[in-house]
Amino acid sequence: MKSFLGVRHLARDDLEDLVDRAAWYASTRLEAPGPLDGLTVGALFFEPSTRTRLSFEVAARRLGAHTLTFFPEQSSLTKGETLQDTALTVLSLGVEILVVRHSTEGAPDSIHRWTGRPVINAGDGANEHPTQALGDLLTLQRHFGTIAGLSVAIVGDISHSRVAGSLMHALPTLGAEVTLVGPSELLPTATETALATSDDLDRVVGAVDVVYLLRVQNERGANIDSDYNARFQMGLDRAARMRASAVVMHPGPMNRGVEISDEVADGPRSLVLDQVSNGVPARMAVLAAIGEGL
Ligand code: NCD
Repeated sequence: MKSFLGVRHLARDDLEDLVDRAAWYASTRLEAPGPLDGLTVGALFFEPSTRTRLSFEVAARRLGAHTLTFFPEQSSLTKGETLQDTALTVLSLGVEILVVRHSTEGAPDSIHRWTGRPVINAGDGANEHPTQALGDLLTLQRHFGTIAGLSVAIVGDISHSRVAGSLMHALPTLGAEVTLVGPSELLPTATETALATSDDLDRVVGAVDVVYLLRVQNERGANIDSDYNARFQMGLDRAARMRASAVVMHPGPMNRGVEISDEVADGPRSLVLDQVSNGVPARMAVLAAIGEGL
C-alpha cells in the first residue's frame, strides 16, 4: 500500500484484509524488531487531537518506528511557510511516512501528490477519517464476531462529520446496513446518499444493533436547535429501548450532556473506550501495510 487517504474507494477484500490485520495486531505481542524498525513516522496535525495523534504514536512505536511530531502553532507556518514546503521540510529530515490531519478536505491527498511519499489521512475537513473507521470496524468485529448483517444508526451531525464520511462507505462495503439519523439540516439529501435517513431517533433506536453517536461540530459551522438534546441525545430512557445486545459507540471527543448522557457514556452498552484501544492495532495495520510498500 502506498498511502491511506480514505476508505471510500476500497474494495471489500482490501478492507477485510486491513480489519484482519488489525485483529491480528490486537491479539499478538510483537517480537522486536518490528516491521517499521528504524523508520521515522512524522505526525503533522494542523487541528487539535488527543486519541488519533497519541494512538498513531503508540502504533508507530510498537512497530519499531521513531516518531516526530509537528506542532503548527509553534512552526514556520506562522511565518507564512506553505503546506507544501512544510511537508517537504519534514520529509527532508528523514521522515518516511507522514500522518496528516488538516481542516481542508483533500490536504493529505495534495501532500501525497506533491511529494510522492506515503501519507496517512488522520482526518481531512468533513471528508474522511479512515483510520477511525478501521478502528471502529475492528471494535464491531471483536464485539459481535461479524460486521455483515449488523444494523447501524449513525446519529447526529452527519453532514460535518468525517467519521461518518468514512463509516457510511466502510460499513455497507462490509455488509452492514446503515441509517443516518439527525435533524434534516445536518443530514445529506436523498440525491447525496443512497442510505436510509431519518430525523426520528425514537423510531430507529429499538431496531438497530449499534447507535453510533457524533459530536455536533460547531467549529465546522453546525447549528442546532434548542430541541436537539430532547430529540437526539442518547440518555437512559432511549438506551432502555435498545435491543438487549445493542451497543453505543462514539469516536470522541464526547460532549456529555449534548449527544450523550453521562449514564450512557459510562454505562454497560458503551464501547467508547474499546474504540480508543482498538485505534492502536488499526493504525498498526495501516502503518505496517505502508511499511511493506516502502
Ligand atoms: C473526530 C475527529 O476529529 O474527526 N475525533 C476523532 O478523531 N476521534 C470526531 C470529532 O471531532 O468529533
